[in-house]
Amino acid sequence: DWTPQHFIESTVAAIREKVGDGHAICALSGGVDSSVAAVLVHRAIGDRLTCVFVDNGVLRKNEFFKVQENLRAKLGLNLVAVDASGRFLSKLAGVTDPETKRKIIGREFIEVFDDEAHRILEQSGNLNSEVAWLVQGTLYPDVIESSSVKGPSQTIKSHHNVGGLPETMKLKLIEPLRDLFKDEVRRIGRDLQMPADILERQPFPGPGLAVRILGEITPERVALLQEADDIVVTEIKNAGLYQQIWQSFAVLLPVKSVGVMGDQRTYAYTCAVRAVHSEDGMTADWVPLPYEVLKTISSRIVNEIPGINRVVYDITSKPPGTIEWE
Ligand code: XMP
Repeated sequence: DWTPQHFIESTVAAIREKVGDGHAICALSGGVDSSVAAVLVHRAIGDRLTCVFVDNGVLRKNEFFKVQENLRAKLGLNLVAVDASGRFLSKLAGVTDPETKRKIIGREFIEVFDDEAHRILEQSGNLNSEVAWLVQGTLYPDVIESSSVKGPSQTIKSHHNVGGLPETMKLKLIEPLRDLFKDEVRRIGRDLQMPADILERQPFPGPGLAVRILGEITPERVALLQEADDIVVTEIKNAGLYQQIWQSFAVLLPVKSVGVMGDQRTYAYTCAVRAVHSEDGMTADWVPLPYEVLKTISSRIVNEIPGINRVVYDITSKPPGTIEWE
């Protein structure tokens, strides 16, 4: 009989045996999968697991701090937090093509993670050992998707996840969640007494806000979208809708329009609000958010964020629209 408790016990024992006195590293995003995987491995080998969390410059408002707080203070993980935001943003400067943005972020991430992993393994005396491990939060649907025979279909988006395998090191993989679906991972997380804000977090793409800022990414635009996104998420939570919705977020459009504020003319950006229901992200329906919630979101955004003077609501399902705008 499958129970979370049984799964946890047998998985922790198996990891402990497998890793022996070796060292493991794990890239964390602050999301459910990588966090649950890390906590399981931490139970097995304690601080011989080092977790790495990278600020890529396109995280949500305060996320770099919130994730550190959750992982370090609440979960007791041995965490290295790397602020690489300057490096990512300078590589992204002037880039407008969605696929190029994704590739830059994927490539930079691997480089940053690779450097950190080197340093960590060197410090722990495991750089050239045969006993260095990489923890990944791969789920069963990811396993299926990457092993299925793909036809000559066109790449719609090049997905990027945390935890790309560093190429210069011989790391062996630990994937404790390979046989599980998302809801099972959440149940295990609850049994592990992990904080609700990790377990209930809506999915967030690896390339972060970069695929929600259309056109050029600048520090100013990132700051605008962080504020707008924070308002959307806060108001959806206040309305008690956060957990029923697959994803709800803001998108910053490089479109300026004329407005009026007090008796002043404004000329500022447009923000799109998107909320979708989905089972697995493959298809999605736009959510008919209550008008009252939309009204609060809209008036807060235009009143609190100088730089945005217009809010529109995305009423496109997937297909034909994808969930993210890029
Ligand atoms: P789309 O936009 O393709 O998104 O309809 C489907 C789901 O995947 C998420 N997404 C990503 N997740 N790395 C990720 O880890 C990525 O590069 C990426 N791109 C999209 C998206 O948020 C949605 O849940």
